[in-house]
Amino acid sequence: MVIRLLPGSRAARLAQRCLSRSPAVRTVATASPQKKEGDISDAFASLSGLEFGPLDPRFADLKSRLIKGHEDALQDSWNRLLASLREEIPLIASLGPKVVPEIDFKDIDNASPEFRAEHRKRGVAVIRNVVPDQDVLDWKRGLREYIAANPQTKAFPKENPQVYELYWSPAQIKARSHPNLIKAQRFLMEFWHSEDPNALISSSHPAIYADRLRMRSPGDARFALGPHVDGGSCERWELEGYGRGGVYNKIWEGKWEEYDPWESSCRLPVVSDMYQGVGACSMFRMFQGWLAMSETGPHEGTLLVNPLLSRATAYFLLRPFFSPKKAAADPASETYDEAFLSPNNWVLEDPASSWLQGATPSRGQELRHHSHPHLNLSMPTPSNPGASSMVHIPRVNPGDYVSWHCDTIHAVDGIHSGETDSSVLYIPACPLTVHNAEFLARQRRAFLNGYPCPDFGGGVGESRHAGRPGVQDVVKVNAGAGMQAFGLKAWNSDEGGLGQGQREVMDRANKVLGFYG
Ligand SMILES: [Fe+2]
Repeated sequence: MVIRLLPGSRAARLAQRCLSRSPAVRTVATASPQKKEGDISDAFASLSGLEFGPLDPRFADLKSRLIKGHEDALQDSWNRLLASLREEIPLIASLGPKVVPEIDFKDIDNASPEFRAEHRKRGVAVIRNVVPDQDVLDWKRGLREYIAANPQTKAFPKENPQVYELYWSPAQIKARSHPNLIKAQRFLMEFWHSEDPNALISSSHPAIYADRLRMRSPGDARFALGPHVDGGSCERWELEGYGRGGVYNKIWEGKWEEYDPWESSCRLPVVSDMYQGVGACSMFRMFQGWLAMSETGPHEGTLLVNPLLSRATAYFLLRPFFSPKKAAADPASETYDEAFLSPNNWVLEDPASSWLQGATPSRGQELRHHSHPHLNLSMPTPSNPGASSMVHIPRVNPGDYVSWHCDTIHAVDGIHSGETDSSVLYIPACPLTVHNAEFLARQRRAFLNGYPCPDFGGGVGESRHAGRPGVQDVVKVNAGAGMQAFGLKAWNSDEGGLGQGQREVMDRANKVLGFYG
C-alpha cells in the first residue's frame, strides 16, 4: 500500500517536511558528494584540448577477454557489418533530414506503423507541437530575465555564453513537468521492451533528469561538439560498466545482427559513470532529448544525428579490435580509397592494443572520421552536403521535442550560420528504476537547495539565484505526474494496469525517496 504524503495544495510544505525527516534521503545525499566544479568542456576530451591515445594496458587485456573464443566469428561479423554500412550510408545521405521520422503530438495515441518502424530502426524522432509555441517563447523570455537577474550564472564559453550551467530555472521546471512532455516521454519509452516481464522498471512513469540548456548565438563556433555518444565511454567495454548487464554480448560474440538496442532489463545493472566524469549521466536514460525554444534549421547551430543505431553501435564498439593492414594513402583525406576501406584490409589485432578509439576515462565517447573511417562521419556543411552518415534533424519550431536513443551518435553544427538564436532545453526521457529513484533522491535535494544536478560540475549553482523556483512551482504545472517525476510525490502502485515489476519498482522507489507506506 502507498501512502500519499503530498496531497493537494499543501504539497510544497509537506514535501519539505517529509524530506527533512527522511532518513533515506539523508543517507543517499551524504554518501554522494558533489563532483568537482566545471562546465560542458570538462565532459569531452576534445573540448578540453586533450588528445586521444592508447589507454592503460589493462584495456588490452579487457579487449582480449571480451572476445575470447569468438575471434573467427568476430572477423566474419565485422566483414558483414562493413558490407551493411556500405549499403545503408548512401541511403541515409540521400535522404538527409527526411530520414528522421516525425509525428505530431496529437497523433501519438495512434502512431502509424510507418512511424513506429522507422523510429525503431533509426532511434531518433521529432514530435511536433508538444507544447504551444507561445508558451515556450514566454518561457524563453523568462529565462533571459532569470539570467539577467543573476549575472553570476556560469556558462560555456565564459566570454560569450552558449551553454548555461542552469538546472532549476523557471523554464526548465515548467517544461520538465509539463503534462504533454511527460506524455511524449511515455510514448517514446514504450518503444523499449523487457525480456524479463518482472524486471524492476516502468517506462510509463518518467523520472526527470535535470540537464542544462543551450541558447546559441548566430556566428558561434565554440560550442562545436563533434560526433559523440553520451552515457559513458570506456564503460561500454568494461565488465563493471555495461558488462554488468551483458548489454553488448551479442556484439562481442560476433552476432551484431542479434543485438537488440531496445531491450531494457539488461541495462538495469549498468554503471555508465565509473570515473565520476563531470557531466557523465549516471541515470538510465532511454533517450536524450530537447525541447526547441526557437525556429531553427540545418546549419543554424542545431543537432546532427547518426540514424544507423544498431549498426553504428556495433561499429564503434568493434572498431578497437581491428586495424588496417595497409594505411590509407592520405590519412588526412576527407574520403578514403577503396583499398583502405575494403574488409580485406582489416584484420583482428593480435595482440590486442589498449586503444579504445575516442574513449577516455571520465570523458564522453567521441568519434571522428579518421578514427572511425567506415562511418563517413565528416560533418556536412552548407557548401558540401557530402555523403555523411551524420544528418541534420529537420527544421524545428518552439515546442517541438526531439529525441535520440541513448546509444545514438550525435553532434552539433560546428558553426551557427543562422540569424537568430538556436535554443533548446535538454530534457531526456528516463524510466522509473530503483537506481534512477536513488539518483532522484540526490537530485531532489539539489533542487531544493539550488545546487547543480549531481551528475554535473558542483559548486553553489543557483542556490543564491533570485527568482529560483521551488516545489510550489512544480505543483502549479503538474501536481500529479510532474511531482512524481521530480521525486516529490509517491508513486501509486495501486493504480490499474500495472505489471508486477512496475508495482514493485514503485514501492521500492517510494522507500528510496522516503515515502514510507
Ligand atoms: Fe550529447
